[in-house]
Amino acid sequence: MKRFLFLVIGLASVTLLASGVQGGGKSSAWKPYLPDDAYKELTARSIKFIEEIATSGDKNAHEKTEVEAAILAAYTLSSKNAAGDAASSLRGASLQAAQSARKSDLKKLAAFGKNIATAPKAPAEIKDFTAYLQATEPMMKMFLSQKKGGEGIHPDLHYQVKLKNLNGIEALLSSLAGKKLNDENMAKVSKELPLLAYRLAAVGSITHELTPKKDVAKWREFSIVMRDESIKLAEGASKKNADEILRAATAVENSCIDCHSVFKNK
Ligand code: HEC
Repeated sequence: MKRFLFLVIGLASVTLLASGVQGGGKSSAWKPYLPDDAYKELTARSIKFIEEIATSGDKNAHEKTEVEAAILAAYTLSSKNAAGDAASSLRGASLQAAQSARKSDLKKLAAFGKNIATAPKAPAEIKDFTAYLQATEPMMKMFLSQKKGGEGIHPDLHYQVKLKNLNGIEALLSSLAGKKLNDENMAKVSKELPLLAYRLAAVGSITHELTPKKDVAKWREFSIVMRDESIKLAEGASKKNADEILRAATAVENSCIDCHSVFKNK
């Protein structure tokens, strides 16, 4: 009994210590916000994308693979059971994919999905996220219109002709922040918008971990707003709440603008 009590007190102080470290001015990038169904769909898409891009012959294939591997790892860290075996294997496989991409050794990633189960497990505590992704710059490109090298958006999200032409995440955010969705457009975007917004949240978390040398606290603050407002955008979209979508999309867009005004082209 005494031993048991000792263990409980010991555990409690370790927990306190851990939360004390987090609360001591350093925000944490990771929290379990991803619902299971979104986690399943997003990771499946990410795995397929890695297999496709790695074998595409695209001149930026290694860069795009590394970015996607980092996002896949971010999904595992944002899932309900980030330390569980399945998430840890998937994270280990992401780390391997990121490392292969860095060595431009992409061929073996053609069968990426098949090799996940046997990948070495990677812990949920990541001291240095640059093992997964070296810098934010290649990741930020995903937001551009597809013509400029961005990843584009799902056809369901082309709810205006303009968006079909621009086909980019940045343009979508600006439309969502510019005008409240009507019922018809809401119906059109309601399946894909939550998924995209959760993807943005994952990018916000990654951004948080890739700090510049100066003004670290400010950088972290902007990326936490990006993450948390993207989560709210996803939740608002899941509930088909047009007012919340308008509010959260505006807040997400402001986090981009605020961070760029301090850090971009500096
Ligand atoms: C915490 C800071 C931060 C946040 C938040 C942020 N960005 Fe960026 N972004 C940067 C920096 C810094 C650059 C310059 C390149 C680099 O170092 O990544 C950049 C570059 C870009 C670029 C140019 C990419 C290129 O190479 O042409 C685009 C587009 C972009 N960001 C879009 C966004 C969007 C959209 C959001 C919000 C959803 C966003 N960013 C949020 C810091 C941020």
